[in-house]
Amino acid sequence: MNILVTGGIGYIGSHVVKQLSENKDLKIVVIDDLINNNFSTVNTLEKLFLKENFEFIKLNLNDFEEVEKIFKKYSFFAIFHFAAYTQVIESMKEPIKYYENNTLNTLNLVKLSLKYKVNKFIFSSTAAVYGNVHKQLIEENEVCNPINVYGKSKLLSEEIIRDSAKANKDFKFIILRYFNVAGASLDNSLGEIHEPETHLIPLVAQTVLGKREKVQIYGDTYPTEDGTCIRDYIHIEDLASAHIQALEYLKEGNDSDIFNCGYGYGFSVKQIIEMMQKVSNVRFNIEVVEKREGEPTVLVANSNKIKNKFAWSPKYNDLELICKTALNWEKKLMSISK
Ligand SMILES: NC(=O)c1ccc[n+]([C@@H]2O[C@H](COP(=O)([O-])OP(=O)(O)OC[C@H]3O[C@@H](n4cnc5c(N)ncnc54)[C@H](O)[C@@H]3O)[C@@H](O)[C@H]2O)c1
Repeated sequence: MNILVTGGIGYIGSHVVKQLSENKDLKIVVIDDLINNNFSTVNTLEKLFLKENFEFIKLNLNDFEEVEKIFKKYSFFAIFHFAAYTQVIESMKEPIKYYENNTLNTLNLVKLSLKYKVNKFIFSSTAAVYGNVHKQLIEENEVCNPINVYGKSKLLSEEIIRDSAKANKDFKFIILRYFNVAGASLDNSLGEIHEPETHLIPLVAQTVLGKREKVQIYGDTYPTEDGTCIRDYIHIEDLASAHIQALEYLKEGNDSDIFNCGYGYGFSVKQIIEMMQKVSNVRFNIEVVEKREGEPTVLVANSNKIKNKFAWSPKYNDLELICKTALNWEKKLMSISK
């Protein structure tokens, strides 16, 4: 059974490919343009597979003709679509870049999926589609009102997928809206590599290790207990296993659906910093700076739906473990780059 994974060399995609490698009946074809220069991830993944079960194709999804050749060559059973740009601030400065890569390339991929009858489409969406929701826990049926271009580019992609499914009864999708993904694989073989890094937990880990001078807190006057933003951090291994369950769910003949991926509780920026200080036993400089445009105050998932409908229950919902695995991974990256 052939599975296409776009962005399968990235942080989340690579963890999913690793978990997919456990099923020896699958052939995984990864398209990725290596925008984060994570060549080492390609080697790590190649080692998990028999030669005939894995193919990495370095290609940009905007090369529609080449992408179509891949669809022609393989008869895919399902697609996991991870490839996207992911930086909120950048998206506000360069909207076209985000609409092109995140939305237009998704449109093309859906078009090819319909043309080549690839009827299972699993899409990486984001809690950023919700915008500023003034509720403790966000449910999937919440009105989406994204406040940054990144979130809008993903919501438009969702609409393309949903409308295509409405018009083509065989085409089924699962949209997974990730909250904040963090940590590294427990065996420390894979982790987060972003150029530049913008996520809080790796930034704090890099500061612990002296790679950065200080941690910046973007605003401490939000209406939360300690004034900093609150996010729902999900361990990457739990998120990856949600994807395996999403594929199973579609294989079982269930209908298309949208699921939040989070644990259902959040931590503030200050709580993350404190946890990193605890696990590392290192004190470091912290600076409070201006709020960033486009940042909702609280983003926490109501995760009942995924827990009820998928055979999924989180195993690593432990902030200490998340921070430890993130720190171990950063240590490894630093030792390799020395
Ligand atoms: N990391 C998070 O916390 C988070 C949260 C919510 C949603 N998401 C979504 O999850 C997905 C994966 O995120 P990630 O953190 O793994 O990002 P990532 O940058 O680590 O991985 C994305 C991968 O896609 C590839 N890519 C991007 N555009 C491409 C293109 N046009 N052609 C070919 N390859 C391309 C990159 O080379 C990269 O390897 C994204 O769709 C993102 O929007 C991530």
